[in-house]
Amino acid sequence: HDLSRDNTLGLPCRAERFVAPAGPAELREALGLARREGWPLTLLGGGSNLILPAWLPGLVVHPAMTSWWLEERGSEVLVHAEAAVVWHELVMALAARGLWGTENLALIPGQCGAAPIQNIGAYGVELSDIIEAVHLVHLDDGREAVLAPAACAFGYRDSVFKGALEGRVVITRLVLRLSRTPRPRLGYGDLAARLGASPSALEVAEAVCAIRREKLPDPAVLGNAGSFFKNPVVAADLAGTLAKAHPTMPHFPQPDGRVKLAAGWLIDQCGLKGWRQGHFGVHERQALVLVHFGGGSAVELLDFAARVADAVRERFGVTLEQEPRLAVPA
Ligand code: EPU
Repeated sequence: HDLSRDNTLGLPCRAERFVAPAGPAELREALGLARREGWPLTLLGGGSNLILPAWLPGLVVHPAMTSWWLEERGSEVLVHAEAAVVWHELVMALAARGLWGTENLALIPGQCGAAPIQNIGAYGVELSDIIEAVHLVHLDDGREAVLAPAACAFGYRDSVFKGALEGRVVITRLVLRLSRTPRPRLGYGDLAARLGASPSALEVAEAVCAIRREKLPDPAVLGNAGSFFKNPVVAADLAGTLAKAHPTMPHFPQPDGRVKLAAGWLIDQCGLKGWRQGHFGVHERQALVLVHFGGGSAVELLDFAARVADAVRERFGVTLEQEPRLAVPA
């Protein structure tokens, strides 16, 4: 099965076997079969934060459950969204209904099931701010479980699904907590400047879309996985030294005393914005995004990314951590 169109980086990839279960029963059946046959498993959502190798042995499971529904709870509204609901479509539908909570996360590619893995975040909001529960199925015995947010160990672009539970569960459904009471969060960048006095949730979502479209390449046009590196969080000493040497360097003190730097700025300062080698490049409008011009491979991409990270390490002494995960059958 060809997965070249099922990953936003557009990397060539073939899977030995592929199944797209449309419901929990089909999903359990596929997992049971893989267990009995001893096939290594790879889970694939929207493929927007994944680096696919050329060949995936065993079975690739691509959940295809696409229902979502609302549950009233006092002044709040719980949103149940199955794994294959397209995140951006859900965000726009909720914003259009005047429900607040997800509007800052508009236009993030991918499907709902993948959102908790990296704790998607943008414009001052992270999924962890609004998540109520994560439903999942364990791969080893097919049992179902519901995790409360505390059990998800959410951090910046991080969660238990990248840690202790990596390769061990399929996320089947999210439950989000939204509000009918307006609660705009416009503190990040120039979001507020683009909006009037009391914007609707839909207006906020549309402003976020406009900002993202200015900087981020559309994966349908140019292969990419959004930010390729996390923004590094460094010791206050190092941040202080760098800020003195580079007075314009963006830096954001964290609650734990460390300081978050802007990886895009660091790469940009190395003169790499727009740099291209072979089939890959640094995006010309946002240095944090690596782009694939077509014809390249995962190996070549990882090599290209290492060169970018090396340049930043040499110049600033800061180590960049890769954000998209490498698909490894488990
Ligand atoms: N900057 C540059 N040059 C660049 C890119 C950025 O100088 O080429 C500077 C900007 O001027 C700004 C700072 O770096 O002062 C930060 O840039 P920006 O506000 O664009 O955000 P970011 O740090 O590049 C992060 C997230 C994005 C998210 C935006 C908005 C990470 C790894 N990335 O980007 O998330 O949309 O903030 O909240 O945290 C993603 O994860 O795929 C993603 C796109």
